[in-house]
Amino acid sequence: MEKLLTGINTYNAQIVLSIIVFFSLIEVISGQLKKTTKNFSDWILEAGGFVVLTMLIKPLIILAVFAIGNTICPTYNNSLNHINFWILLPIYLLIDDLLQYWYHRSGHEYDFLWKLHRPHHQAEEMGFFISYRNAGLYYLLMPNIWWMALFTFLGGGIAVAVGLVLKQLVIIGSHSTVKWDQPLYKIKILHPFITVIERIIVTPAFHYAHHGKSKIDGISDPNGNYGNMFSIWDQLFNTATFTRKFPSNIGLENDPKEHWTETYFYPFVKAKDTNSELSKNYIKGFTKTNEPISVELKKGENYLWCKCGRSKNQPFCDGSHHGTKHKPILFEAKKDGTVKLCNCKITKSSPFCDNSHKNLIKEN
Ligand code: FES
Repeated sequence: MEKLLTGINTYNAQIVLSIIVFFSLIEVISGQLKKTTKNFSDWILEAGGFVVLTMLIKPLIILAVFAIGNTICPTYNNSLNHINFWILLPIYLLIDDLLQYWYHRSGHEYDFLWKLHRPHHQAEEMGFFISYRNAGLYYLLMPNIWWMALFTFLGGGIAVAVGLVLKQLVIIGSHSTVKWDQPLYKIKILHPFITVIERIIVTPAFHYAHHGKSKIDGISDPNGNYGNMFSIWDQLFNTATFTRKFPSNIGLENDPKEHWTETYFYPFVKAKDTNSELSKNYIKGFTKTNEPISVELKKGENYLWCKCGRSKNQPFCDGSHHGTKHKPILFEAKKDGTVKLCNCKITKSSPFCDNSHKNLIKEN
């Protein structure tokens, strides 16, 4: 077992490192790294996160799964050995990526997991290293790392090794400043080709949209495009947005920029700044009244209406919906003038008030 693990780890480490060196070289040659505005905290979170993940968390999970497997069901060890590699590889990859899709999506829809995944979205510029930027506990709980260890225990080690390399190639590629898909959108003859590609794997444009700050630019979809290797899950579960454009604002709205120890070690270290949602004294902003709010709109402009009720800038979204299942509603003003926007959040003609708040008052 030790030999197999060492073999897989060495093989993987070498190829994944080669992919990283390849993307680094392109980023250096294209001058992207020179323009970086990353600070010390960013580098610690990204480079440090990568080292801890590969040298500590993954090996720990593999050892734990082998120890548990050999104790509870030793006969299952290597039980998949007789199955053809070309059958094992898609089984491993599809289950792995489906697990990660739901884990990633839950990281946006549930408060606790959002706080673990949040460092990934605090990055204000893309680059392959942000792939490894999450709280340590996020990786420890990541179901597909446990699946990788289990599949290795069952005898699918070679499929795991090859699958991980393919997956890293897509993930690093979709975070990198090397927007490999961009030229393909410009050449008409290549459109059918890129259409097929983007419907199967995650492209930079697809993933950049997920990192965009706010949906208001008509490109970003921070509450969608959750796929990691395959974009098929987003299409299947109705969370896909294909714009083939790249948002210019990356990161989080209202980011208090905590110290890296507070983000990486959450929930064991809490933020001192009470404006941070990682602080135990953080006060969530909820709508204070159910009454509609009158606002002045300008014809042709985009607005983002708050659906969750947590925005401190009612009736508009300020990004506080992260960690809930709510998404803001993007709308364009059809004419200049004052309108009443819903503030009770139960209108049936969002974002406009339909007097549903009056029923609330009656019920109370
Ligand atoms: S703050 Fe964005 S939907 Fe409420």
